Amino acid sequence: MAIEKEAHKVLDGKRVNVRKRGEKFAWTRLMPDDEWYPRAAPKTIRPARWNWADCHKMLQEIATSPIPGADRRFIILVHDDTEEMMGTAPGALIGMTILNPGEALKAHRHNSFAIYHVIQGVGFDVMQNDDDPDPTKIEWSKGDTWLCPAWTYHQHVNDGDEQAIILTVQDFPLLAAQRNLIFEEPRGPENIRLVSKKFVPHRDTAGSFKVDI
Ligand SMILES: [Fe+2]
Repeated sequence: MAIEKEAHKVLDGKRVNVRKRGEKFAWTRLMPDDEWYPRAAPKTIRPARWNWADCHKMLQEIATSPIPGADRRFIILVHDDTEEMMGTAPGALIGMTILNPGEALKAHRHNSFAIYHVIQGVGFDVMQNDDDPDPTKIEWSKGDTWLCPAWTYHQHVNDGDEQAIILTVQDFPLLAAQRNLIFEEPRGPENIRLVSKKFVPHRDTAGSFKVDI
């Protein structure tokens, strides 16, 4: 009984927006399904190609900038027909990472999986999930493909003598569309964040992890 008696005190002293029972929300409505389906029919996705020359040019441009955060040297192949998803296809994206010789990105993780394919160079990845007592080192070279499962710490290391370029396939757009894309960057439970207007990964290592809610 003690808990029930305390219920009315839950919001005592707090600023709160009250929505009374029966009040209509201006941004809601009811719709018959024969009206809903035509409106919900997805936009046709046109076939598309991203030219290697353009990708390579942009990769070289970002290869000369400093790295403020993990995965900073990363471009995304966007298809405009995916609209809000900003994907290469609906729900998924292809990205490309470039690492200069000797560079190692910071360990981080996200709830999107990542499939990697090496276009150029040699190096290795260090990965570890919550159930692994020890990290796994995966060495890679041109043509290799590997998987980083969702919510697994990972970092890329270029220990070769030339630039490394890695193609990545991820489901970031699907998770973002569900408002459920989560990053931990850099490693540390205090850095677990939902990607939102208030938090964008990589933007600024010093500032990105200190946004007040
Ligand atoms: Fe990543």
